[in-house]
Amino acid sequence: MIVASHRGPERFQREADGTFTRQRGAGGVVSALQPLLAGGGAAWIAAAMGDGDRAAVAAGAARSDDFDLHLLSLDPDAHRLHYDLISNSLLWFLHHGLFDLPRRPVFDDRFEEAWSAFRSVNQAFADEIVSAARDGDPVLVQDYHLALVPAMVRAQRPDVSLVYFQHTPHCGPNSMGVLPTTAATELLASMRSCPTGFHSQRWVRAYEACCEIVAGMAPGPAFAAPLGIDPEALDASASGPEASRELALLDDLVDGRRVILRVDRIEPSKNIVRGFLAYDLFLERNPQWRERVVFVALLYASRENLAEYQAYRAEVEHAAERVNNRWATAGWTPIALDPEDVYPRSVAGMCRYDVLLVNPLKDGLNLVAKEGPYLNERDGVLALSTEAGAFDELGDAALAVHPFDIAQTASVFESALAMDSDERKARAARLRELTASRTSRHWLDELVAHARAEAG
Ligand code: F6P
Repeated sequence: MIVASHRGPERFQREADGTFTRQRGAGGVVSALQPLLAGGGAAWIAAAMGDGDRAAVAAGAARSDDFDLHLLSLDPDAHRLHYDLISNSLLWFLHHGLFDLPRRPVFDDRFEEAWSAFRSVNQAFADEIVSAARDGDPVLVQDYHLALVPAMVRAQRPDVSLVYFQHTPHCGPNSMGVLPTTAATELLASMRSCPTGFHSQRWVRAYEACCEIVAGMAPGPAFAAPLGIDPEALDASASGPEASRELALLDDLVDGRRVILRVDRIEPSKNIVRGFLAYDLFLERNPQWRERVVFVALLYASRENLAEYQAYRAEVEHAAERVNNRWATAGWTPIALDPEDVYPRSVAGMCRYDVLLVNPLKDGLNLVAKEGPYLNERDGVLALSTEAGAFDELGDAALAVHPFDIAQTASVFESALAMDSDERKARAARLRELTASRTSRHWLDELVAHARAEAG
């Protein structure tokens, strides 16, 4: 098997004595695939992400015990244009509906340069796949950074068993029409050249409509295969000493109060500011809950080299500060905002919450919405955006959140906190059953089956 993803399964750091140390790679794609494939002989093709990775490649030290690792040392300028401009400032914004359309995006000569860098990075991945692929090897191409790879591989090796999986939503034809037509057509033509998967049937339909309406092409084979949790890894983390220590610290912090939790990257699509505004309204409407609940926001930095993300982080901090200034009393801080990325702390929070808020504007899946209910030990209520892919599977047992409607979100907090214990228990049991029954292994097996079916 071959996996191609922008981020690799391991990151390298050069130490003072010239040797290299390794850490597990970051991001959702790596967390899902790394434990499933480690030690099984898979090849993994990824970009060298920073100085440590690049130095390891140059020194011939970018090797892994678990994978046949191919780290691509890309031209730094081309890589920046590929990742920052096209992947994260254009395609991410497009598929999550984040553009402020009267102002952005603007396509000029700089776009042409960035698009050709996007192409060249995709071509480097495709070339590596072509030289690594052996007969019958399924090749799993992951996410929008590599959307042009399928057509580039097909042009050289039509025989390869290929599947492309996009972890984001897919926008509909009106939004896709914002892209220059040649770029939109190039993306869609590539995706339709192999089976293409998403976490939700809604994104499948949107992708198919884009093929037909924007590009005037029949869509290729497309499927929905939502990612599931990794129960063994979650059980091991929750029962470990670090999570126990974090749980004790959290118990001290909240001091017997009810807990509303969120765990997110600081990311505009996660809709963090509206979550705080809804909580503010909830406290205004419900004096009886003041001092009896803490909103624990475990938020960690993301894409901080992009101006939009820096500005959003400032807005998030400001919104939390405003709520705290308005309502805090001597012994109570209404929002505990924690910007440190400490995984056992997230695990502890998921075990302990009474209400888990997952209110993205749009989200391919949102794995926290599955991991939280699986780990939770207090019959916690899931407040879930209808715009998260995970809503398809969990919506019946969750309380539905309209992500733009803060008055409705405030009412969801009221309902969740006032819910009687029988209903909470029944909903939590159903959520646990749903989240435990579909694992990341099921998802991987389906991807491989789609790749093989196409080749056969
Ligand atoms: O889920 C989509 C995704 O792009 C993943 O591929 C990635 O791990 C995550 O969001 C975080 O983004 P980034 O890799 O840009 O930090």
